[in-house]
Amino acid sequence: MLRYLSFFGLFLFTSCTWNEIIPVSESDICIPEEQYYFDVVQPIIENNCVGCHNVNSGSLAILTSFDGVIYALNNYSLKDRVTSLQMPQYGSPPLLESEINIIQKWADCE
Ligand code: HEC
Repeated sequence: MLRYLSFFGLFLFTSCTWNEIIPVSESDICIPEEQYYFDVVQPIIENNCVGCHNVNSGSLAILTSFDGVIYALNNYSLKDRVTSLQMPQYGSPPLLESEINIIQKWADCE
């Protein structure tokens, strides 16, 4: 019985490790790191959001820095605003579907 249990435990252990490795190696997009933000996400924010969301924008979330974007992700539902197409605001050019996907997947990793 004990032998059976430890075998089962080993199986659980290895399958868990396996699951953790797969998403990282399979997806180029799902890397929750700052460098990826600067390479891929920031240009989208830069081109579509900071025109309104900057230090001069009064009470709006400031999206000109990595920390500001992380803060807005955690406190102002930035991901939902983007995926529900509320942002960029009505009247501004909408994001491409591929850009929305990038922000969504990056945000899911944070
Ligand atoms: C034309 C100006 C404009 C642009 C461009 C714009 N926003 Fe906004 N955003 C606003 C305004 C005004 C509000 C506050 C009103 C509201 O909540 O809808 C807001 C609200 C938000 C909020 C909620 C927190 C807050 O600041 O009140 C988030 C998060 C947000 N925007 C993210 C984004 C992102 C991400 C982009 C780019 C993809 C973007 N916005 C582009 C004007 C803009």
